Amino acid sequence: MLRTMTKPLPTALNPARLQALAAEHGTPLWVYDAATIRERVASLQRFDVVRFAQKACSNIHILKLLREAGVKVDSVSRGEILRALAAGYEVGGDEIVFTADLLDHATLATVVEHRIPVNAGSIDMLDQLGAASPGHAVWLRINPGFGHGHSHKTNTGGEHSKHGIWHADLGAALAAIRRHGLQLVGLHMHIGSGVDYEHLAQVGQAMVGLVRETVAAGHDLHAISAGGGLSIPYRDGDARIDVAHYFGLWDAARREAQGLVGHALKLELEPGRYLVAESAVLLAEVRAVKNAGANRFVLVDAGFNELMRPAMYGAFHAMSLIGAGGAEQPTVVAGPLCESGDVFTQGPGGEVLTRDLPPAAVGDLLVIHDAGAYGASMSSNYNSRPLAAEVLVEADTSRLIRRRQTVEELLALET
Ligand code: LLP
Repeated sequence: MLRTMTKPLPTALNPARLQALAAEHGTPLWVYDAATIRERVASLQRFDVVRFAQKACSNIHILKLLREAGVKVDSVSRGEILRALAAGYEVGGDEIVFTADLLDHATLATVVEHRIPVNAGSIDMLDQLGAASPGHAVWLRINPGFGHGHSHKTNTGGEHSKHGIWHADLGAALAAIRRHGLQLVGLHMHIGSGVDYEHLAQVGQAMVGLVRETVAAGHDLHAISAGGGLSIPYRDGDARIDVAHYFGLWDAARREAQGLVGHALKLELEPGRYLVAESAVLLAEVRAVKNAGANRFVLVDAGFNELMRPAMYGAFHAMSLIGAGGAEQPTVVAGPLCESGDVFTQGPGGEVLTRDLPPAAVGDLLVIHDAGAYGASMSSNYNSRPLAAEVLVEADTSRLIRRRQTVEELLALET
């Protein structure tokens, strides 16, 4: 019996299918549904460019699927650039943009070699890039002085954030661009994950103000980017983002900015979570059930080395059990790691919480929902656990898109 605690799972990820995949590939296992990703892409078609924040899910096969759906990509490391190239993204244009607050030596060499536009979050990046590659295409990522986030760890604006060029330093950044003969493509803002409507008009106005300053300093630009941060309903009752409303607010800012530059500006969006979070589940097998005082623990074979979000942010993920069923009871769901924080049901302060679940037995399958964003991409080898396998479901077919890592592969790095 499947207990769904929130919106239904993608139709292709039905209980029988999930059980069969777990039997075939073992657990823990990530299972993605291609149709959900394509549907999310289609919902953003009014934006001129949808650029996937690849950090949310960087599997090459997911990137290929997105590329085929017309989505461009944002890479934040040399590794992510090489993944985008492996997925077929092309260099020489704007298919790949590198966004960061610093350039390490190897990444600098890679962006120069492939002429990948750089979205600069510090003036030092402009100086280093300008010295190595005059004429390089750049974006400026600006910190407008305020931000939002589903947790303070994902708020990327304001004076406590290390991200972006502080708005008051825009003039100095533009001067660096001129000094090095860099080509300004556009202005970018990503002020956090978890768009909050209250601030949206303010964000748009901040962008218009930056465009005004850029034009006054004698620079032209071709695009503005709204960044990412579109939320998804993780909990029952969470609202789904109103894309039309969101587009409308940014489109108004774009129009005002166009009036300032005197020509058309492309409007980019850079979502991560919105495109992939709801496409995937993490499957884990129940391996032990026990009580500790008043608490009932269900222990599964996936831990925070697979899905780090609950331990890191107290993030909520809906869960279902595929098992015998029965009356629900408050349950703590935890993993195998030798660390007390390895609990999937916890609050933002690390407090252990319970979830009402049917009685679980060893061998039941736990389904953790909405695991497609910042799931596999944030996994680690903690406790010497190999990375789990990933499977992509396309209607009636499925294929392994990452095989399970082996312990031998881990050890090989050290011998
Ligand atoms: N653009 C930039 C420059 C970013 O830094 C990010 C996310 C995004 C776009 C995409 O944000 P999204 O649309 O996915 O919210 N690990 C955290 C999220 C960290 C986000 C970091 N930057 C989590 O699991 O919620």
